[in-house]
Order: sequence, then C-alpha cells, then structure tokens
Amino acid sequence: MHTYFSEKTDFYGSSSPHELVSRYGSPLYVYNENILRRRCRDMTGFIPYPNYKVNYSVKANANLELLKIIREEGLNADAMSPGEIFVLLAAGFKPKQILYISNNVSAEEMMYAVNLGITVSVDSLSQLETFGEHNPGGDVAVRINPGFGIGHHDKVVTGGSKTKFGINDDCIDEVKALIKKYRLNLVGINQHIGSLFMNGEPYIQSVQTILDIARQFEGLRFIDLGGGFGIPYQKQDGEKPLELKLFGEQVADILSAWARRYNPDIEFMSEPGRYVVAECGILLGMVHAKKENSGVLYAGTDLGFNVLARPVMYDAWHDIEVYPKHGSIVSSSKEKVTVVGNICESGDVVARDRELPPLSIGDILGVMDAGAYGYSMSSNYNNRLKPAEILIRADGMHQLIRRRDSLEDLLRNFNDYIAPVLP
Ligand code: LLP
Repeated sequence: MHTYFSEKTDFYGSSSPHELVSRYGSPLYVYNENILRRRCRDMTGFIPYPNYKVNYSVKANANLELLKIIREEGLNADAMSPGEIFVLLAAGFKPKQILYISNNVSAEEMMYAVNLGITVSVDSLSQLETFGEHNPGGDVAVRINPGFGIGHHDKVVTGGSKTKFGINDDCIDEVKALIKKYRLNLVGINQHIGSLFMNGEPYIQSVQTILDIARQFEGLRFIDLGGGFGIPYQKQDGEKPLELKLFGEQVADILSAWARRYNPDIEFMSEPGRYVVAECGILLGMVHAKKENSGVLYAGTDLGFNVLARPVMYDAWHDIEVYPKHGSIVSSSKEKVTVVGNICESGDVVARDRELPPLSIGDILGVMDAGAYGYSMSSNYNNRLKPAEILIRADGMHQLIRRRDSLEDLLRNFNDYIAPVLP
C-alpha cells in the first residue's frame, strides 16, 4: 500500500527513487511525463464545446520543460506576473495564447504585457483607471467577483465578500463608464472562485453567475470561467478523483444555450493549475534522524517547508510513500510518526501522526501529488538550496530539467560579491 501510487503508474520508469537521489541529491522533485500529458488531455476534453480553450495557470508549476509539454498538448496559459509571462514566452507560448490576470500591479507591469501583445485583465476600478490612463483605446478584460467562493482553505478562496479579488456586480455601471471614458474595448471577463473543489456544483453555479453578468456587456470575445479543479490528495484512503464527464457535459449545455442566445462567437476558457500538474509530481526526501520527544515519534528529514510549503501554510495533506534503504519490501507493520523537516521552526511539519512502516535513517520518503504549488512555492529560507527537478520521460528515461541551486547561487544577487574564502 505504501508504494501503491508509484507502482501502479510506473512513476519512476527505468529508475528507482534511490538511484535518482544518489545521482541528483535529496530533496528532489520528480515529474512523470505520461501523467502530465494525461491530465492535460483530461482538461482539453473536459467541456465538449467547440469554442473552449484551457489556460494552464502557470503559478502551479513554472518549470520550462513541463510548460513545453503543456503547450504541445494544446493548452494556452494564464499568468499572474511579468515573470510568469517571461517564462511562458521562453517555453514557446505566443502572446495571443497568454492572458495576464493581474492583481494590484503597477502601470509598468500592465504595459509590459500590453507591449508584448498580451491581453490584460484588471480586477478593480482603480486598476481599470490606471490601465485606461496608460493605454487609452486598448483591449482589456475585467475580473468579476461572482459573490461567492470555494477552496480547500480560507487562504485560497478568491470569490465572495472576504477576498481582495474581482469587481462586484454592483460596480458594473462604473466599469462601463471607465471603458467609455478611455475608449477601451472590453474583450473579456473572467473569474476564479478559489482553489480545489471535488464536486462540480459550485463551479456550475459560478458559471451561471458569470454568464448572467456577461449579458450586461456587448461585444465580448471571451468569458473565462476560472480554475480550481481538485485532485484527490488522500488516495491511500481511497479518495476518488473529480468526476469530469458529467460535470463537463453539464457545463457544455449551459454554455451552448447561452452562446446560441446571446453571442454565438464567444470563446469560453477555464484556467486549471493544480489539476494539470499536481499528480505528475512526487517530492523525494531522506530520513536523517529519528527521535522521540515527549511521547511523539519524529522522523527528521530534509523535507522542510522551504521545499514544500503547503502542509505548513494550509495544513494540507500529502500521502507519503516509503522507499526503504534496505531491500525493496516495505514492512507491513505500522507506527505513528510525525515527519518533520530541517528548518528552524516548530511548525516545520510535513505530515503529523501518520501511520507509516517503521522508518530508518537512509530511507527515502515520497511526498505524493507535489507537482502543483510545490517547487513554485519553495524558497531559500535558512539559506537552503532549492532542489533539482527531474522528468521521467514517456520512454521511462530520466532527465534533469532544473539543476539544484549551488551555494554560489545564494550570493549571486549581491553587488559587491566577493568570493568567500573557505576554510
Ligand atoms: N486562476 C487564478 C486567477 C488563480 O488565482 C488561480 C490560483 C488559478 C486560476 C488556478 O487555480 P487551481 O486550478 O490551481 O486551483 N497555493 C495554493 C493554491 C493557490 C491558488 C491560487 N490561485 C495551494 O497550494 O493549495
């Protein structure tokens, strides 16, 4: 059971976690191309409606090689910053394939996108005014707050009254006035109600809401329905994936009916991040210590929250697989253990009170479903090095797709850099 997912999916191809770690070091992000492609196709086939496009939300994972695969699979992209735009262009996305969903940005950042020919979505009246002042007569999109949101944690609910995002529908007259004042073309509206739902109902409700709002605007070219599609993080307990078929058909019916009646040329979009990349990534780390403190058994690893922030930031659950150092047989006995990292805070816990096979120093742990918001939220806290990233190609061979930070990288932004004299 504790290596079930990677065995079932032939995750590591012709390598083993121990081989990969001994070659590339620990911790290590490992991605599987076959799983990534499958998840891309789930999304491009999700809504059976001809004028439907998927914008991959690059914030979930911006590795260049993964982006190239995602582009090959026919996805477009949404970006949240000039840095994301820059990397998308480097991965071969064309400006027309990118939507810049900005939030509280400077005029310079807006114009960075505009000058590249990328459509900008703004999400407040104040930012619409800034956009109009700097790009009068230009194309613009507006992010709508549909009045409710959803998400696996309060911090990732992005619709409703407790969030900074979007323009409420009671401000639509003011949107129209600004559009007129600056002779802007409102080419699209977009929304994103939050991250991670496992049941399509709220999404469908939000689709209906944005379509109602869309009727108040003329000449829209697109309506972007947002992301948030969840994945089952508790597969070891039998959690089932999101049921996409019926859900997609229901959305398609609503979209077709609306388009027939109000705007047959409209393009619809969604913007999934997590769904596309979460399951194709496993984070490997190594057990370096074991101890008992006040009745709690700890496994000390290199899986600090500098490498994976989700458990600390959102109390997020990730299943754990154990790859024992000695022999390939995982013990069938279990003990309750709290898996912690090597960072200077007590909150540095990857998995609390887990029933795992007894761990030994040198065992490797695989943190499942780490492809989304894993590397992209990692940091150099405690001056730790960001890990390498490896891709298991479709033929089972592995490839380094981002090298590990070096110690020198920690000094590269200092102007008066003087190579330290090492003892
Ligand atoms: N569109 C917009 C405007 C977004 O802000 C996001 C995510 C997405 C699309 C993609 O959402 P997804 O399909 O991945 O749920 N760091 C958190 C998730 C934060 C999501 C932020 N916005 C986590 O690790 O759970």
